[in-house]
Amino acid sequence: MHVRHLTLKDFRSYPSAELALTPGVTTFVGLNGQGKTNLVEAIGYLATLGSHRVATDQPLVRFGAAQAIVRGAIVRDEHETMVELEITPGRANRARLGRSPVARPRDVLGTVRTVLFAPEDLSLVKGDPSERRRFLDELLVQRQPRWSGVRSDYDKILKQRNALLKSAAPVLRKGSRRPPRPPRDGEPLVDEARESALQTLDVWNDHLATVGSQLLYARLRLLRDLVPDLADCYDAVSAAPSNARATYRSSLHEELAARIAAGEVPEIDELRAGMLETLDSVRTGEIERGISLVGPHRDDVVLSLGDLPAKGYASHGESWSFALGLKLAAYRLLRRDLGDDPVLVLDDVFAELDSGRRERLAALVGDCEQVLITAAVGADVPDVLRERGSTVLVELGQVVTEAGGEPLEPVPADE
Ligand SMILES: Nc1ncnc2c1ncn2[C@@H]1O[C@H](COP(=O)(O)OP(=O)(O)OP(=O)(O)O)[C@@H](O)[C@H]1O
Ligand SMILES: [Mg+2]
Repeated sequence: MHVRHLTLKDFRSYPSAELALTPGVTTFVGLNGQGKTNLVEAIGYLATLGSHRVATDQPLVRFGAAQAIVRGAIVRDEHETMVELEITPGRANRARLGRSPVARPRDVLGTVRTVLFAPEDLSLVKGDPSERRRFLDELLVQRQPRWSGVRSDYDKILKQRNALLKSAAPVLRKGSRRPPRPPRDGEPLVDEARESALQTLDVWNDHLATVGSQLLYARLRLLRDLVPDLADCYDAVSAAPSNARATYRSSLHEELAARIAAGEVPEIDELRAGMLETLDSVRTGEIERGISLVGPHRDDVVLSLGDLPAKGYASHGESWSFALGLKLAAYRLLRRDLGDDPVLVLDDVFAELDSGRRERLAALVGDCEQVLITAAVGADVPDVLRERGSTVLVELGQVVTEAGGEPLEPVPADE
């Protein structure tokens, strides 16, 4: 698939922008802060309903404006679809597919798929477990949009269960400096409110385990499919056999966690039973701390190079190659699964790579249907890519000219 046209209104630094795009490689060149990343961020938003740079919508709306609009014309198998998102911070966003509004923004997921690699992705290797969980879950949604609903169900259940755990322990918390002794399993509870809260906990354990086991199962299958490509892609970029691996670290009890770490994907029923069992064993600790200690929200993906974990050991360049390897592997997986190329976005990537890695990356992405590249210095992007595609200059929040060519024709908005 490819993006044929992008329209922005009050998105980031753009009061308005119309950008025509073609299949092949497009390189956006401009000085720092001119609005290159803003353009590709908008395309990423159409695909994921989120930004790779910020967790909230407010910074996406141009300062002083109330809402932003991002609209893309997406071509897949010669069939074009218009997808539009209206981003209004503090209110529910709205979306359109073709000319019709859809019930929820997430109904447009799958219309455009992107794999975006940016400097922020270094946190996949160096950052908290939440970064790696997000990578898996976002890829899951790109692969099959229905997972978006499962994810949001899980988050809701988790929130309610945490609220319940907090309400189950009011006596333990109030006024005492030192946390008092938590109730022992099976010990009769004095406080009635607590007792009823704890009874309800079993119901929430059930919900958590039902939805949590589905999410876990999907993540494990995804990782199993991703790992062979990860090593391949890492090696292809770094030109050295690395044995780059990713294993899942589960919060389930030891026996199940060990099998999962070894690459096994247990059936959903077994994961569900394991989750219930583990929840039972940590009940006291959960009540004491007022948080849910078991489930996909506590898991991690351990990345390693040879025998060493990447986090804390890998060099800057190795970490960078690892993050790139993960994204390229994600690209291959989507391409294989969907029989269609996602849009590949490389934001500020080439400046970070040595010349060998640049050339090898260029060779790897040369056959992708659409590649969007941003670079402050055009010369950082290998000639082989720039010669094959077009270069667009970005200046002061305006897409000005195609470098060395004709000025870009503004294309009328598809009102
Ligand atoms: N909500 C917003 N309202 C107005 N301007 C914004 C908003 N968000 C970001 N900007 C501006 O957009 C510019 C950043 O654009 P962008 O990140 O696309 O730059 P870039 O061309 O990718 O630069 P670099 O080469 O440094 O990566 C900054 O000048 C920033 O102040
Ligand atoms: Mg940038």
